[in-house]
Amino acid sequence: MPLTLRAYDPRDFSALYRLDQSCFPAGISYSKTTLRYFLSLRSADCLVAMEDTHIAGFILTEENPPLAHVITLDVAEKFRRGGIGSTLLTESERNLALRGIRHILLETTTDNDAAIAFWQRHGYRIEATLKRYYLGRLDAYEMRKILPAPTKSGTAAVAKSSTSSRDKTGGEKI
Ligand SMILES: CC(C)(COP(=O)(O)OP(=O)(O)OC[C@H]1O[C@@H](n2cnc3c(N)ncnc32)[C@H](O)[C@@H]1OP(=O)(O)O)[C@@H](O)C(=O)NCCC(=O)NCCS
Repeated sequence: MPLTLRAYDPRDFSALYRLDQSCFPAGISYSKTTLRYFLSLRSADCLVAMEDTHIAGFILTEENPPLAHVITLDVAEKFRRGGIGSTLLTESERNLALRGIRHILLETTTDNDAAIAFWQRHGYRIEATLKRYYLGRLDAYEMRKILPAPTKSGTAAVAKSSTSSRDKTGGEKI
């Protein structure tokens, strides 16, 4: 079954929460409250990757043109190194660029070698080291990519996927 991408649906919430818990250590993964909060933002966009009927990964971004932030990118362990993270990121970047985003920022722990290699492969550069950024003790790299300006053709605005369930703030990963 080929990989398909689709917009987040509130019925995905539990699966996305479990996936995020499995992708990051306790305290860096998002609580339900925080994940709900980010998904609820009008400025957020979430794309979900489906392998057959299974959620294999998702990317959650937040935008305030010309800047966007990758809140998280999660691929289930058994699906890694198969191009799913790249597919999600490429589609997200394409949509963001069409909505006027020129810079994308993210943070990752300095010991997350897989993620650092992945982001660098996709043109993200380390801008700064944020000391004790996670849990008051783990350092993070802030990484940034400058997107090329979209060409005139195909600049029609891309509607964001709608997100719904609403909750309050928090912020384990960013
Ligand atoms: C980082 C992550 C999203 C990558 O997803 P993925 O679907 O495995 O990535 P892809 O298959 O598209 O990899 C693309 C390229 O990234 C690099 N890369 C990805 N994982 C890597 C690893 N473990 N070690 C070294 N390079 C890696 C490689 O260059 C790879 O290309 P290649 O397979 O042809 O060598 C995934 O490992 C993940 O979910 N990790 C846990 C959560 C996380 O850390 N997210 C990032 C948050 S900052």
